[in-house]
Amino acid sequence: MTIHIGARAGQIAETVLLPGDPRRAEWAARTFLENPECVNKVRGMLGFTGMWRGNRVTIHGSGMGMPSLSIYANELIRDYGAKTLVRIGSCGAMQRSVALRDIILAMTASSLSTPSRGIFRELNFAPCADWTLLRNAAAAAEAKGTTCHVGGIYSSDVFYDERPDLNEQMTRHGILGVEMEAAELYNLAARHGVRALAVLTVSDHLITEEALPSEDREKSFGDMVEIALEAAFA
Ligand code: HPA
Repeated sequence: MTIHIGARAGQIAETVLLPGDPRRAEWAARTFLENPECVNKVRGMLGFTGMWRGNRVTIHGSGMGMPSLSIYANELIRDYGAKTLVRIGSCGAMQRSVALRDIILAMTASSLSTPSRGIFRELNFAPCADWTLLRNAAAAAEAKGTTCHVGGIYSSDVFYDERPDLNEQMTRHGILGVEMEAAELYNLAARHGVRALAVLTVSDHLITEEALPSEDREKSFGDMVEIALEAAFA
């Protein structure tokens, strides 16, 4: 047990998928894993461990935003020995070439700040994905026929943004989409020598202002879970 995770030693797999929403973790575990067992309920942040094609995997909520993800990822890595962490989540598109339901694989994650800022201070560390996971995920998306973009994303600290000029600069510099967790996941993976990737589905569009209807979100989310699992175990 840790402060935020009730699992006993050995109940967390080396490979962990991290959706933001704990109910999504439950849905993904019950839909894709064999014999899913609930291993965490602390604060309602559900985590499940089960088997996928003979591989042990945990699907655990991260909560929204980098401070929340940082708590769970730190404990999963440092206390439970997680070695591969794949965020599965949604993002807002920042380029016209990116459409709703497309997948974005975050090669890098820019930010204004992350919980690691205190360590890096004046250094602009470049958080990046694990290459093998990235390559495997791109191959898995291609095999599924899912439109997939690979490039930089923006990990923001705010959903309700009061700085549209920042979004404009991100768009101008080719950033594909915005979400709120990946940069700190990549920082932590670098610090602890583990693998990380963020696989994101486009749920809304910052330029066209379209948004995915809630019925469509489950299907997109399911595709993303499969891509994440295939990337982790390819
Ligand atoms: N902003 C930040 N995070 C997000 C968004 C967004 O527009 N869409 C999905 N996650």
